[in-house]
Amino acid sequence: MSTRLVILTICLLRAATLTAETMDANLKSLLSREEIAEKVKGLSQQIERDYQGKDLVIVMVLKGALCLVADLIRELNLPLDVQTVQCSSYGAGGTKRGALTVLGAERLKIHNRDVLIVDDIFDSGQTMVTLENVLREMGPRSLKTCVLLYKQDVPKVTDVRPDYVLFDIPDLFVVGYGLDFKERYRGLPGVYVLESP
Ligand code: IMP
Ligand code: MG
Repeated sequence: MSTRLVILTICLLRAATLTAETMDANLKSLLSREEIAEKVKGLSQQIERDYQGKDLVIVMVLKGALCLVADLIRELNLPLDVQTVQCSSYGAGGTKRGALTVLGAERLKIHNRDVLIVDDIFDSGQTMVTLENVLREMGPRSLKTCVLLYKQDVPKVTDVRPDYVLFDIPDLFVVGYGLDFKERYRGLPGVYVLESP
């Protein structure tokens, strides 16, 4: 093997072992892609049992729920419809909370159907409670909620937990697997704590 080929091989191997953490010192791994995949599989089995013979509509909350919904619908062995709304509770400043906006609810076709709202994270619960109220007005046959993450130790607007929670996490700012900070990090395959946003 020529010296150049050896150097190239070493560089390629080194690049393959770089993780999000080593590339960005602010990121600390919280949930691996494997841990998430295992939970998604378990969740899909539970949803299959709960929605047998029903008219399942997954309402995906953009953009944070995109990875969870993409993985979940590929595990689900059920007829289903995916519709979307966009909710945003953060301004361009990143972690600082702005006014909550719900976009696209008027386009939903959920009357008399079995609706499952899927969001990335339940923090104060404001987003989910607002969405539930908006969607309930539209007359679904049933309405349930699902989140990837439930942030513990944060004051909540309700004591009611979502119907399906994949992971409980401490009060930390997290990114990856759909979650962003100023539109960055959504594509990371796992969930990471962003230490100094
Ligand atoms: P809530 O309305 O306080 O429950 O906040 C929920 C929304 O805030 C989620 O849908 C996320 O978009 C966003 N959010 C809350 N915590 C985090 C976080 O740690 N990282 C990224 N986004 C978050
Ligand atoms: Mg969100």
